[in-house]
Amino acid sequence: MRREAPVMKQQGRSQNGKPCDAWLVTGYDDVRAVLSGPHISNVCHDGGGVGGGQAGVLVSMDPPDHTRIRRMLTREFTVRRVQALRPRLEENNASQLDEMEQAGQPADLMKEFAFPIASFAIWELLGVPYEERVEFRRRSELLLDASLPTERQMENYRETLSYISTLVAGHRQEPGGGILGRLISEHGDNISDEELVGVGCFLLVGGHEATAHAVGLGTLTLLQHPEQLAVVREGTEGVLRTAVEEVLRHPALIHTATPRWATRDLTLGGRLIKAGDMIVPSIASANRDPGFLEDADTFNVKRPVSRHLAFGFGVHQCLGQQLARMVLTIAFPALLRRFPSLRLGVSEGDLRYRAQGFVGGVESLPVVW
Ligand code: HEM
Repeated sequence: MRREAPVMKQQGRSQNGKPCDAWLVTGYDDVRAVLSGPHISNVCHDGGGVGGGQAGVLVSMDPPDHTRIRRMLTREFTVRRVQALRPRLEENNASQLDEMEQAGQPADLMKEFAFPIASFAIWELLGVPYEERVEFRRRSELLLDASLPTERQMENYRETLSYISTLVAGHRQEPGGGILGRLISEHGDNISDEELVGVGCFLLVGGHEATAHAVGLGTLTLLQHPEQLAVVREGTEGVLRTAVEEVLRHPALIHTATPRWATRDLTLGGRLIKAGDMIVPSIASANRDPGFLEDADTFNVKRPVSRHLAFGFGVHQCLGQQLARMVLTIAFPALLRRFPSLRLGVSEGDLRYRAQGFVGGVESLPVVW
């Protein structure tokens, strides 16, 4: 598609379920243009976007509301705050690996390592109080279970929104610790309860899905390239840095960014896109575009790649990217040193890839050592 029809017409659905024209965009330059260009909105013309129109979900908002809320959040995500977490995250990796080792092999790396370390990192950064963590874990597991029927998934989502509403109401009465409490005590007059619920839901249960699958797909790709795995296991900080970027770029981790909507007629890749059409930029495809990077289909942990789009581009670029990078930078060496003979516990053909969702990955990753 990227070669022959890089901007390709498909059938889409608006937020209210009405059929509409949708454009799948697969070339690097076009994807970047969609993510940062004018006359393109993250809000569907018939209301909302990803997140069912819930206020406060940044990827479904446009400036100026998007800018107002994003500004409140940036200080939660500074490099300094993320760096300060390193010792806690390393400690948690070690105890998670202890548990995995004790439980014995084969182990599902997603369940025993990737998901727990990703959630822990986010809770630590955002200061989620300990008493709320068990409930968050349960909710995230339910929300991410793509095997449930759609109706059930929607119900879980609604229940989670209602659970977070209760937390918000509690913090409004008496702002406690953690991100919700801080948002209320510092910006309480400038953000509505509904927006707080959207922010809370997206950050606390959404952010870790991509991080966990980056750990999973990254490990899988390294296992498929043993000579590069050895480089990462023994690697210096410099090699680790490039390896992490390559792990973000090469596997199909984020299939597409959230859908965009044309706010007026525009031309992209020589095709006329009408006002109101949906535009779906494929990040996975852009990152493998040979026009962007020579030999882009080859996985090479030593090559420095700085302009990949794994975290998006433009005003919606990922807020959690420093945290995600930190999780990956410490997870791979810890895992590969603990289990020097780590390998797949099933044949590659038996791995089941997720069939739905923005985030790609494997359903489970059985490993032995
Ligand atoms: C490897 C891990 C991750 C990847 C690959 C990833 C990828 C992305 C991408 C591609 C976007 C842009 C979506 C778009 O433009 O439609 C995004 C946005 C976002 N991400 Fe991440 N993400 C990761 C981890 C995280 C984490 C750990 C957090 C927070 C705890 C986080 C929070 C966010 C937020 C809040 C946005 C919305 C920003 C906005 O709309 O202004 N992400 N992420």
